[in-house]
Amino acid sequence: MEIFDLAPVKFGSGKMLILDQTLLPGREVYIEMKTKEDVWEAIKKLRVRGAPAIGVAAAYGMYVAAGNFSAEAEQDLAVFGAELREAAAYLESARPTAVNLAWAVKRMVKAFDAAAPDTAESARQTLFDEAEKIRREDEAACYAMGEYGLSLLKPGMGILTHCNAGTIATAKYGTCLAPIYLGQAQGYGFHVFADETRPLLQGARLTAWELHRSGVDVTLICDNMASIVMRNGWIDAVVVGCDRMAANGDGANKIGTSGVAILAKEYGIPFYMFVPTSTIDLDTQTGDDIPIEFRDGDEIGTMWYERPMAPAGVKTYNPSFDVTPAEYITAVITEKGIVRPPYKENLAALKTEERNVNGK
Ligand code: MRU
Repeated sequence: MEIFDLAPVKFGSGKMLILDQTLLPGREVYIEMKTKEDVWEAIKKLRVRGAPAIGVAAAYGMYVAAGNFSAEAEQDLAVFGAELREAAAYLESARPTAVNLAWAVKRMVKAFDAAAPDTAESARQTLFDEAEKIRREDEAACYAMGEYGLSLLKPGMGILTHCNAGTIATAKYGTCLAPIYLGQAQGYGFHVFADETRPLLQGARLTAWELHRSGVDVTLICDNMASIVMRNGWIDAVVVGCDRMAANGDGANKIGTSGVAILAKEYGIPFYMFVPTSTIDLDTQTGDDIPIEFRDGDEIGTMWYERPMAPAGVKTYNPSFDVTPAEYITAVITEKGIVRPPYKENLAALKTEERNVNGK
């Protein structure tokens, strides 16, 4: 599909490029990342966003950072390692909720430590190779989630989604949109309803754009219309992504997701959360322990409007994510398979198996 050509992060001719998602759907513009500060800003401002894509960007960002290390680091690999750790901490500070960011930078540091390179040049090569591996693994994980997800869906179904967990939120295919794309290629004829996803409109600007462009039947709705389309009997399944899943199966995703999950339970509609294992964080015990990002109140009151729609100086409350309690999640779709409750035991078993196989 043509949409898959628009990778959120690209590396070519020695240049790191990111698709500036703040300009979508109007303009498709790639911008070059020359420094770790560029990458930090791009993540912070959501030019690159979506948990897996943030992880991929941060991984390449570590390589970019290493291209600008001090003259001392060029000579002394211990200094190189120290500067790499500083870059990891810096990039990790861009956004707190999506665990893929911390996961990716930690993995880059680990790759450097394990390789124990003897020149700065070979250290940079190690970092580049690891970033490529992270990107390729995410692409494969998304495809696998697409296949598992499709096994839960039937042709002609109505599917509601929230935010954007599509191809531009990942290395390729998306997490919860992957089964939609695979189904589309096989003539499933899904009817997708995309919540606009206030306040940054990832549903309207990104999901509706991705799916519409790919020929999927997609209908854009405001966030407060999820209940009526469920009541109308138009929704057979809800599919969403995840930014961090705690050990007990509570999953943080874009603000508004938990409300959709509660509605889905009320209407007896299965609620599927698509969670690559890179997004499962067993060190976070429950949803209460997931750090939630808060963003500028201007996103609610003035942004997107020709003139401010809120009185100047009014208080705002703008959490970027909420946590859907595990009890509302019918199944967790990972690249290793479909996980059902009890999540605490089953997620731990899945991660242990992954560690045994990959040593991660
Ligand atoms: O603030 P964003 O746009 O980065 O939030 C993105 C989401 O909440 C996605 O649903 C989540 O990252 C899963 S992406 C495959």
